[in-house]
Amino acid sequence: MSAHPVLYEGKAKILYATDDPDVLLTHFKDDATAFNAQKRGSIVGKGEMNCAISSHLFQLLEAQGIATHWLSSPAPNEMKVRSVKILPLEVVVRNIAAGSLCQQTGLPLGMVLQEPLVEFYYKNDALGDPLLTLDRLLLLELATADQVEALRTKALQIDRLLSDFFQKCGITLVDFKLEFGLDRQQNILLADEISPDTCRLWNQADTDPAQRVLDKDRFRHDLGNVEAAYRQVLERVLAQPVQPQGEAML
Ligand code: TMP
Repeated sequence: MSAHPVLYEGKAKILYATDDPDVLLTHFKDDATAFNAQKRGSIVGKGEMNCAISSHLFQLLEAQGIATHWLSSPAPNEMKVRSVKILPLEVVVRNIAAGSLCQQTGLPLGMVLQEPLVEFYYKNDALGDPLLTLDRLLLLELATADQVEALRTKALQIDRLLSDFFQKCGITLVDFKLEFGLDRQQNILLADEISPDTCRLWNQADTDPAQRVLDKDRFRHDLGNVEAAYRQVLERVLAQPVQPQGEAML
């Protein structure tokens, strides 16, 4: 682990400074929390698995023209990333109704949405990460109107790329949460992680509503076999090349 100063410790990751002010080192932990840390536990091997899955997906997105903070993965549970100022927003994209969308609207679990739904939540643990309206987001100056439009466009592009990728893995991308940051030049970079902690992933080979879950919902709802589900995702993701064959950059 790094001998450098800890800049921030979150629920699932620790962020260290490095000798280069533009580069940070992220350490992925096995710790798991749910329901705003009311439920706590540990998922053996989660740090390494989420780091490897995120690294693969960030490289895939970079190869398709999405700017991310990813630089390298110097150790199995460590990721070097560009230093960015994280926007205090959780950008959620939903393809299928699940989770809080069902709880708050009454839509049935598993309903395929006609169009992907993009939602913005206020990244603020003390307030319980509330769902924002556009007017509230602007009132709080969490981002500019132009940035919101750019985030929406990027989130939908990422949804298309990740949905296609997971399809090849035999997995349905139900919904996911993204975080973005600004670099020194105010460019918007995709940041944080993309993993079974931050996505809902359903195994297409299984229709049973509990069996098919390959993500953190297994931990949230005590469905068991959490590590095995994360490992399934890891193995299937790593089996798919970052760049589709024949599309390698010249
Ligand atoms: P939700 O249905 O609970 O609002 O979650 C939507 C998506 O966001 C789901 O894929 C899980 C992810 N998520 C996080 O990554 N972090 C969180 O704190 C929450 C509540 C959800």
